Amino acid sequence: MKIARMNSLKNKWVLITGASSGFGAAAARAFGAAGAKLLLGARRVDRLKQVAAESKHNGAGEALLHELDVSKTSSVEAFIAWARRKIGGRKSEAGGLHVLINNAGGAHGLDTVAEGKDADWEAMIQSNVLGVLRMTRAALPLMPHDAGASIINIGSVAGHTAYEGGAVYCAAKAGELQITRALRLELLGTGIRVGTVDPGLAETEFSLVRFKGDAVSAKKVYEGTQPLTAEDIAEILVWMASRPAHVNIDELIVKPVDQAAVGKVFRRKN
Ligand SMILES: NC(=O)c1ccc[n+]([C@@H]2O[C@H](COP(=O)([O-])OP(=O)(O)OC[C@H]3O[C@@H](n4cnc5c(N)ncnc54)[C@H](OP(=O)(O)O)[C@@H]3O)[C@@H](O)[C@H]2O)c1
Repeated sequence: MKIARMNSLKNKWVLITGASSGFGAAAARAFGAAGAKLLLGARRVDRLKQVAAESKHNGAGEALLHELDVSKTSSVEAFIAWARRKIGGRKSEAGGLHVLINNAGGAHGLDTVAEGKDADWEAMIQSNVLGVLRMTRAALPLMPHDAGASIINIGSVAGHTAYEGGAVYCAAKAGELQITRALRLELLGTGIRVGTVDPGLAETEFSLVRFKGDAVSAKKVYEGTQPLTAEDIAEILVWMASRPAHVNIDELIVKPVDQAAVGKVFRRKN
């Protein structure tokens, strides 16, 4: 690899939503190892503190954290006001916000449409769709133009393929994909890169949240198969953000080898 062609992340500000677990926490540790300065948000501040300490240990220039609920405009605005105080605007000496990772989200329940619950539907649309919109709108004024900055959204294979019990989660991630595509068009000429990483089966707290804390049902999702890890996705995020400034990775689908398609998973028998 020609190192000189890479877009160095050292001392660049990277904002990660949903940094308290799974992909977001692994991304914090990985961007930290690349020497980035981190702004970490999620609702569980105690977990963020732990992730910030691990990221700092890995080499992060800074690892700052603040409570964030992407389902509330007021919380997003308070978070971004805090971020602005830390780094200034896009023309600040600190160089503005270099990378925005819109990762916060997840699935709630696996009910059919006929059995669906309003609270689950609303939570999924709020975090996976409106959360991405709110965060992007608020963070854009902090991002420099023509500097190889990046907005990377986390979608899902669910945004590409429908499955029973997944109507709203699939709709939400299809929404995320279209928002990413629209934003890519809208930001043409600014130098800000826009892309989406759409993972398949990955073992994080995702299934525990989907099954509302039922650890036995959550574990079954990964039984006999080798899913992706949070670190697999974190590595890809760092790779995307560190491409040369003229390279935009638009859309990336990543699945475990054991998953040929949604609902088509190879499972070993003991
Ligand atoms: N694991 C998979 O198989 C998989 C596959 C494809 C896509 N994804 C997507 O990947 C992203 C990360 O999920 P994960 O697998 O890493 O699951 P996870 O371990 O459950 O992490 C989800 C993160 O999102 C945060 N979050 C959820 N709602 C939020 C809100 N309203 N405001 C702020 N933060 C919120 C959580 O933090 P708090 O609870 O502390 O707020 C947590 O840090 C999600 O968008 C998910 O849909 C996951």
